[in-house]
Amino acid sequence: MSSATLNRIDVEYEQPDEAASGAVCSTKHAWARVPPEPSQAERAALKDRIRRLLKEKNAVMVSHYYVHPDLQDLAEETGGLVSDSLEMARFGRDHVAQTLVVSGVRFMGETAKILSPEKTVLMPDLDATCSLDLGCPIDEFSAFCDQHPDRTVVVYANTSAAVKARADWLVTSSCALDIVSALKAAGQKILWAPDRHLGAYIQRETGADMVFWNGACIVHDEFKALELELLKKQHPQAKVLVHPESPADVVALADAVGSTSAILKAAREMDATEFIVATDNGMMHKLRTLNPGKTFYEAPTAGNSATCKSCAHCPWMAMNGLADVARVLETGANAVHVNPALIPRARQPIDRMLAFTAALKNGQSTGALVPHLGAA
Ligand code: 13P
Ligand code: SF4
Repeated sequence: MSSATLNRIDVEYEQPDEAASGAVCSTKHAWARVPPEPSQAERAALKDRIRRLLKEKNAVMVSHYYVHPDLQDLAEETGGLVSDSLEMARFGRDHVAQTLVVSGVRFMGETAKILSPEKTVLMPDLDATCSLDLGCPIDEFSAFCDQHPDRTVVVYANTSAAVKARADWLVTSSCALDIVSALKAAGQKILWAPDRHLGAYIQRETGADMVFWNGACIVHDEFKALELELLKKQHPQAKVLVHPESPADVVALADAVGSTSAILKAAREMDATEFIVATDNGMMHKLRTLNPGKTFYEAPTAGNSATCKSCAHCPWMAMNGLADVARVLETGANAVHVNPALIPRARQPIDRMLAFTAALKNGQSTGALVPHLGAA
């Protein structure tokens, strides 16, 4: 039996039954496989091999905050990046390396490939997916868009290339508020997909006119407000940091709400030494190493005597391991392919997001970057 067939687990996620209303979901099943944890000696040998191969192959590592700490540290140590999904996309596009090794989930590798079709994009495991991507199939999503031709289509980065090719704008959780605010100011009504919690949060904050696809992240959907309140009582000084893919009653308990990078910033800058964190527990590595004097608690994912489904760690992010990074660098296996016919159209909403966020960062006006896109 190969290591690829070991540790295979069943993962439940939701998919809207009726794209028309987006209101009814059925439970579907997907799977994930988690690579075995290498021994200390194996880890050291694998890291040496990867360092050598990155140089030989003119390659750079781009890792998300939710993947194994080894893949985060090695990316940084070798001149690559560990970041949120927005900065992963920008870094991959702008870096001179001809090969990108993207540790994360499939949409991250696809976004890198769409932005740099001439580069080789490798992933440790091409089957690492996302419940938001799985729960938003292109045919149903297209039918939903067809019912709302007057709305600007805004999709989250956690989607397939085909869904991106149907969108006017791409957003990640670090720029969704700014982009939807600008669209609202330009008088646009919005069709939002696929994360219902993030969409509802953006609507509450901006007051924009939005209709929603009914997807959810299996990790963040599990955080429980009642148990979070109990944990707050045990740690009354702790500030609560919440990713907006979490349910509204959990977001309501937050002292800071934001993307993975916003959570890191809040932990660094807030005047507190204890924090309760409602996001994937892969974040704990960076939170703890960057804030050695502070204490971080994981927000609860299960109620009394209940079991949790994801236990605050994404089963697909967990598919990324050192051995597969070394293997794909050595062999060129697991290259990401995106249908070339989709690339020019899928690139438009990504380019808009990157131009908008770059302008925002540089203090430039974003007005001209928000055209009327009724029929993009
Ligand atoms: P960030 O964009 O906040 O990094 O989150 C993306 C995500 O959900 C990764 O699974
Ligand atoms: Fe998708 Fe959630 Fe996993 Fe992120 S943590 S990849 S949103 S399932």
